Amino acid sequence: MQKDLRAKNSNLKPQFYMYIFGASGQARAIIDILDPDVKISGVFDDDPKIKDILGFKVNGPVPEDFEFDAPLFIAIGDNKSRKLLQEKFQKRTSFGIILHKSAIVSRRTTIGEGTVIMEGAIVKVNTFIGKQVIVNTSSSVDHDCVVGDYVHIAPQATLCGGAEIGEGTLVGANSTVLPGVKVGKWCTIVAGAVVSKNLQDGAIKRRQD
Ligand SMILES: CC(C)(COP(=O)(O)OP(=O)(O)OC[C@H]1O[C@@H](n2cnc3c(N)ncnc32)[C@H](O)[C@@H]1OP(=O)(O)O)[C@@H](O)C(=O)NCCC(=O)NCCS
Repeated sequence: MQKDLRAKNSNLKPQFYMYIFGASGQARAIIDILDPDVKISGVFDDDPKIKDILGFKVNGPVPEDFEFDAPLFIAIGDNKSRKLLQEKFQKRTSFGIILHKSAIVSRRTTIGEGTVIMEGAIVKVNTFIGKQVIVNTSSSVDHDCVVGDYVHIAPQATLCGGAEIGEGTLVGANSTVLPGVKVGKWCTIVAGAVVSKNLQDGAIKRRQD
């Protein structure tokens, strides 16, 4: 079993060039992680008014006939938008995976395409992380967790061992999901909440619930 998981992690090979989609806050965070070790091949954004990000030219929307010669990274914080963009571009390109050098990621994990593990985050053994996931600054994903596609684990959030997070859920900043708790798809866990019981799809977990 462990051997199998390690083999899946072989997609974490170094990438030297990447295109970026997005030119707002999340894109600034991503470019700041990549530059200068990974060369930014180009930046796109559907808002043609944005011309520059951190000194990189923003090229507007991706032209219909554009051929990607490097992986694309979708640097958009909104989970639904990342899903739509993944679906839009998946036939035309591969997607980068970004691990900040200060993140601690077990070799015995699976990390999906388009996912970023940011500064100081920890991902522990036997955890599965889907595609287009944001594991944000100093968050912690403990052993045996399952994190679905398009999830955002916000800064300093904690998933205790064996927690499961469904597709598209926002795990708010500094929130905690207790061991083995299963959170449904497209839920919102507000900043600072503690989730001690399973949540159904689409649930909003407030601090006082
Ligand atoms: C879930 C969330 C978006 C709710 O937003 P909302 O429903 O639009 O709520 P509002 O911003 O209108 O705030 C409503 C009230 O709740 C308060 N509030 C909002 N979130 C709160 C929180 N997590 N803890 C305590 N109080 C909170 C607001 O101050 C406001 O109080 P008021 O009525 O006394 O003025 C927001 O609470 C949240 O926690 N988002 C997660 C943010 C995050 O971690 N993002 C990741 C970014 S990297």
